[in-house]
Amino acid sequence: MIVPEPTRVVRRSKGFTLDCGTSVRVTPGAEPAARLLRSSLRPATGLPLPIADYGQIVIALDAKLVGLGAEGYALTVNEHGVLLRAGTSAGLAHGVQTLRQLLPVETLRSSRVSDVDWTLPGVDIRDVPRLPWRGFMLDVARHFQPVHVVRRFIDLMALHKLNVLHLHLTDDQGWRMPIPSRPLLTSIGGWRTETNGDGTPHGGAYTRGELEGLVAHAAERGIRIMPEIEMPGHARAALAAYPDLGIAPEPQPVWTRWGISDSAFGMHALGFVREVLAEVLEVFPGEYIHIGGDECLLPAEVHGKFLRQAGKYLLDRGRVPAAWEPTGDPRALVMPWKDESQASAALERGQAVVMAPHTSTYLDYPQSDGPHEPAGQPGFVVTTRDVYHVPLPDGVLGAQCQLWTEHARTREHLEYLAFPRLVALADTLWSQRPEWQGFTTRMRHHSSRLAELSVPADVRREPCEHS
Ligand code: ACM
Repeated sequence: MIVPEPTRVVRRSKGFTLDCGTSVRVTPGAEPAARLLRSSLRPATGLPLPIADYGQIVIALDAKLVGLGAEGYALTVNEHGVLLRAGTSAGLAHGVQTLRQLLPVETLRSSRVSDVDWTLPGVDIRDVPRLPWRGFMLDVARHFQPVHVVRRFIDLMALHKLNVLHLHLTDDQGWRMPIPSRPLLTSIGGWRTETNGDGTPHGGAYTRGELEGLVAHAAERGIRIMPEIEMPGHARAALAAYPDLGIAPEPQPVWTRWGISDSAFGMHALGFVREVLAEVLEVFPGEYIHIGGDECLLPAEVHGKFLRQAGKYLLDRGRVPAAWEPTGDPRALVMPWKDESQASAALERGQAVVMAPHTSTYLDYPQSDGPHEPAGQPGFVVTTRDVYHVPLPDGVLGAQCQLWTEHARTREHLEYLAFPRLVALADTLWSQRPEWQGFTTRMRHHSSRLAELSVPADVRREPCEHS
């Protein structure tokens, strides 16, 4: 059972077994998909899967394939071998994930497994996603996450055919992206002295090379990274580094508490913002750049003007600004996080919309009201079922889950919060006819894959618990 559910699967009687003699033939442009297949199968299977002129596995990039769109793929497995075809490299990357799921679950293990037949069942699959934006936001500002944690999230997203990683890189409590002309952003803004009185410093920042490495790692898997630089509020880490940019006259340290701070960039900070965005555009090649815009105490008129000017800088350079609130510019993408009325208003204005309602996509809320749940953001419970039923008004591009990290610091805790809710998001956005009961059946099978990957999967959180 493939998760998310493919559009069409027809079983064939005879499958194909991979062994040391299996090689891969690629058409021009399909080499990255072959490398992805080999690198994802190698740890458990040890199979070399060399690229050769003749191969039982054929991976073909064919821009003329019709009906598969920007991300679809077609896959055939029979007794002669495997044929994976797509019109785009993203489609091929998704097809590779389906191959991984068709193989025995041990394929997903990170160390060598013996005594397993690496047999693919015979199938004909044609698979196209329902919606083009299937996202996951990771807040690396509240608790910094090292590169290996982000890479693993990218790998887990890829397994589920999610395709946008939104990196929340700056906030009141930390600034994580280096800007060469403004070194204090990370040396001062990247560190806070403590968190809620715990007496322990916390911080960190990526290098440019690390961020570029993440962009490349994601791209090989059909995932775009959308960076977020928060403005004009949620800016206290930047203001700790460069106090002159703010509306408050006196310097304030990087915030050591959670909540909505009263510091913000003043209009005179727009030159600084352009300097920052220039570097962001060099590191992140994707179409969308998120400029925050939420929870700011500036008067609405000033707030809107600030965001429109920052957005214009991006639009003038061929990119599209995204924001948590409408900026007054219909060319910006909006992510309604409060309620659905935000979405309908934006859709009426003709804006692009990606759903992020907190009541069904915020993963910092506990996922059940059981006593075993670690402390999270109080106020709501967001179950796997709630995520599955995220509201998707006609015309939206898709949705994304948000993992804010005020209450979670370690990889294990983050993954515990993300799964299985992120699987529900992937299934409901990819499947052509999402249906909760079918998902719970698929999920029971899929749990063994998550177990092989050592994703913390608590049996007490079976998705049907709240059905
Ligand atoms: C948000 O939760 N302030 C976007």
